[in-house]
Order: sequence, then C-alpha cells, then structure tokens
Amino acid sequence: MKPIDGVQRTLNVALDERSYPIHIGTGLVGNADAIAPYLAGRQVMIVTNETVAPLYLDALRDALPGKLDVRCVVLPDGEAYKSVEYVGRIWDALLEAGFNRRCTLIALGGGVIGDMVGFAAASYQRGVAFIQVPTTLLAQVDSSVGGKTGVNHPLGKNMIGAFWQPRAVIVDIATLCTLPARELSAGLAEVIKYGLIRDAAFLTWLEDNMAALRGCDADTLAHAIALSCQIKADVVAADETEQGVRALLNLGHTFGHAIEAEQGYGAWLHGEAVGAGMAMAATLSHRLGWIDSAALERCEAVIVAAGLPLHAPAGMGREAFLAHMRRDKKNLDDELRLILLRALGDACITSETPPETLDALLDGYPRA
Ligand code: NAD
Ligand code: GLY
Repeated sequence: MKPIDGVQRTLNVALDERSYPIHIGTGLVGNADAIAPYLAGRQVMIVTNETVAPLYLDALRDALPGKLDVRCVVLPDGEAYKSVEYVGRIWDALLEAGFNRRCTLIALGGGVIGDMVGFAAASYQRGVAFIQVPTTLLAQVDSSVGGKTGVNHPLGKNMIGAFWQPRAVIVDIATLCTLPARELSAGLAEVIKYGLIRDAAFLTWLEDNMAALRGCDADTLAHAIALSCQIKADVVAADETEQGVRALLNLGHTFGHAIEAEQGYGAWLHGEAVGAGMAMAATLSHRLGWIDSAALERCEAVIVAAGLPLHAPAGMGREAFLAHMRRDKKNLDDELRLILLRALGDACITSETPPETLDALLDGYPRA
C-alpha cells in the first residue's frame, strides 16, 4: 500500500480475514486517502454528535469522493444517550435512506459514538461495514480498537452489545486540540492502564511525560497513542472475545463501572471512574500483599498526575458497589472476578479475593 499523506504510524489488528489497520497521524479526518479505501460501497452514513459535528463533520463529508451517497446522523451528546433508543435513531436513518448491506457507517466522535455506531453496524441487516474515526484520547487509545460495541442499560454499563470489528481505525491526533482538559485526563486513565497491566517501562515513561501529555504536545501524544494501540491490538489479536487475557484490559473497570452506574451515566466520566477504580484495585492488590507500598504510591501518584480522581464518590457505600459488581460481565456463575496487580506491568484475573478483604476495602476506602 502506498504511503498516505499525514499518516505517521500504521498498526495492524491481526484477526485473519477481519484484520484491519489503525492509521495514526494528523489531518486524517479530512483526508479521503485515509478513509475511502475502507468503504464497502457507495452508501455512507456518518454518525456523530452535536458537539463534534460543528468541529469535524464538514471536513469529513467534504473529503469523501463526490460519487458517494453520503448521509449524516447527529445525535445528542452524552453517555446518558448511549442507549438502545438512540441506536434506534441510526437504524431509522439507515432504513429511511434505503441503505443496503453494502453500506458503511462512519463513527465520528468519542467512545460513546463509536460504541453505538459499532452496535448499529453489527445489527443493521445482520451486520454491515463500519469505520472508526475517534476524536477523544480515550477513543483513540482504547474504545475504537477491538470491536466491543454496545449500549448501556439502566441496570448495567455496556450490558447490551456485540463484538463487531471495524474495517479501519483512523486516528487524527489534531482533533485532540479541541478536546476539553477534563476529557483528555479521562483518556489518560486508559493509557495508564496499559502501563499498569502490561508494560512497566511505559508506566515510567508516562510518569516522566505526564506534563507534556496534559499540555497536548503532539509528538508525546502520538507516542502514547501508538504504544497504547499496539498493546490493545496485541491483546485483541490474542483473545478477540475475552475468553482470557483480554479481561486484563478491565483493570479498575469493575469498580469504575459501579461508580458510573450508581452516580448516573455521565456524572463521572468513564475515564474518571476507571482512574478511581484502578486506585482501588491497586489498594486491594497491596492489601493482599501482591504489591508493596512503593508500587501503590506510584500508581496513586500517576493517577493524580493525570488529573484523575483517586477517591470513590461521597456517599457510595459498600452495598452500592457490590450490587453493581455482582452484575459485572467478567463474573462466572456466582464468582466475583477482579483484575488485580501482581506487580507494576503485570496484572491477573482472580476470583480468590477473600470477601472480608473486599468488604474492608469497600467500607474503608476514602470517599471524595
Ligand atoms: P464521549 O464519547 O462521551 O466523549 C467525551 C466528550 O468529548 C463528549 O462530550 C464529546 O462530544 C466530546 N468530544 C469528542 N471529541 C471531541 C473533540 N475532538 N473536541 C471536543 N470535544 C470532543 O466519551 P469517551 O471518553 O470518548 O468514551 C467513553 C465511552 O467509551 C464510554 O461509554 C465507555 O463505556 C466507552 N468505552 C468503550 C470501550 C470499548 O472497548 N468499546 C473501551 C473504553 C471505553
Ligand atoms: N476496553 C476493554 C476492552 O476492549 O476489552
């Protein structure tokens, strides 16, 4: 394949005939060469939200070849709209346009849009093509890669969905210039996660480069995105449907999903809940004697340096945590399974946390 203008790095998610590239660079939203090769046919539905549309929709739409039939759906912005009802709006638009099985959906936005569009693509006429154009750091390093798609249910986060891989992931780092600082921090939670579960050297690099990352330095961000995507691509290639190692990508998420659901979707950003959740998982790992206090302090310090909360929400008690945690998708039968740290850069999944140790954590962990 000939080089594409603006692409700095291309990674591959190796899934046999469903393998796909992750192109990372600048100016890619408005670059037809980066996107058009992955369209299945003439019919294209761009789905975005009310915040991202004024920023990037014209650039994307104008870049696509004129011979295409391009339609757009603009959804309201927010985790609270990540529901079957709003995926229904995408299905409605596809049916009203008369789009067939050779159509392509393009997800232009953060993880909420990416997850919803992926699910719409997985389910429309039993599965059509889609392309991820992630515009938040969180989506660029995590949610756009790996094919987890879906929506929330009032009783649980991401409980309705499907595994459905995109045809390509187009990461335009320049879109991060318009991202609010709080959202950038939320994305850093998932970046830190990769260091904690898989790569101690990356964690050290993050500790050294956190100020540049939060300052939106393009080269530093490009490095962090590429390393994060490489780790994610490797894990997904090894375990696409989370029968084993992929569960490690959920470090902090069991506590985090409980926080998100209990506080009401959108009150805490997903990355904020994951930040506090990783600190809780690290504290539990320390109490079990798996990591020493120096390692725990490093976890806490890097989470704080990223601008993320360390403490659980005020007023959220043990039973509120457990009610959500018992519904976690990682659980098997009645077993509560958690991702914990054996060392910095080394995580494991365990169902052997003594209930009294978990109860003591949930009772005594500091609240904001
Ligand atoms: P988000 O999609 O809500 O985006 C955050 C905010 O940033 C929104 O207000 C959005 O409109 C705005 N925004 C997006 N791009 C922007 C830009 N370039 N400039 C200015 N504003 C911009 O949230 P998110 O953090 O991207 O994603 C969180 C979601 O991702 C959660 O629903 C979570 O469950 C999901 N997720 C999925 C996976 C997966 O593997 N599928 C992994 C991690 C998280
Ligand atoms: N974000 C977790 C996963 O993709 O498996």
